[in-house]
Amino acid sequence: MFVEVKNLTKSHASQGESSDISVLRGLDFALESGRSAAIVGPSGAGKSTFLNILGGLERADSGIISVGGQDPGALAGNMLSDYRRHKVGFVFQSHHLLPQCSVLENVLVPFLPASKAERTAAQVVGRELLDALGLGNRLNHMPSQISGGERQRVAVARALAGRPQLILADEPTGALDRSNAMQLWTLLIKMQRERGVSLLAVTHSEELARQLDDVWELRDGKLERAS
Ligand SMILES: Nc1ncnc2c1ncn2[C@@H]1O[C@H](COP(=O)(O)OP(=O)(O)O)[C@@H](O)[C@H]1O
Ligand SMILES: [Mg+2]
Repeated sequence: MFVEVKNLTKSHASQGESSDISVLRGLDFALESGRSAAIVGPSGAGKSTFLNILGGLERADSGIISVGGQDPGALAGNMLSDYRRHKVGFVFQSHHLLPQCSVLENVLVPFLPASKAERTAAQVVGRELLDALGLGNRLNHMPSQISGGERQRVAVARALAGRPQLILADEPTGALDRSNAMQLWTLLIKMQRERGVSLLAVTHSEELARQLDDVWELRDGKLERAS
């Protein structure tokens, strides 16, 4: 298994209340290398919390996590930055592009603090990705000059520029209309298959979820296979 999670727990401090909110309660999950999985579930179920933990953005309270043999919760400093740049790639619901940077610059932003060799590699891969995503003639456009669907495609290129082995996508189509949502989802699957990476994506759409290899439902703090 490329991703393996056992008995994961996570609570958040609740504002104004004495007891914490228990969000993940002994969650188990597994994903094979090169496979895709969707996570569905009600709002507030803990889907983003789970992806953030896998991506090294939040830490779990307890449990076992292995992402390609690494536990993001055990990493710090340069090891954690390296994990976030090269092991996983994140796509969020909102593109988080910097308005003052061009399309190409936005893809390269995560690599500014990296080594020269990494920056050069990201340049090459970034251009190739933008081309593959139909943005080859938009490299010097600003985010304000492209559509919402195109901005989200730039976010996909940025997530893949470090050649990660796992894409974590948290409602990547949540801010798009139906036709742009379908288009982005199709591109995400295409990129995942062509590059042989694993994909874990949250969506509210059953229709989109069914297009991935596995579907899981997050409910009562645990994940269950829905298909
Ligand atoms: N940083 C935080 N501090 C306190 N509570 C949080 C924090 N992040 C998330 N929560 C709470 O944890 C629960 C799960 O949130 P989230 O993972 O965002 O769910 P989902 O993505 O499934 O909608 C919600 O009740 C939310 O309010
Ligand atoms: Mg969420």
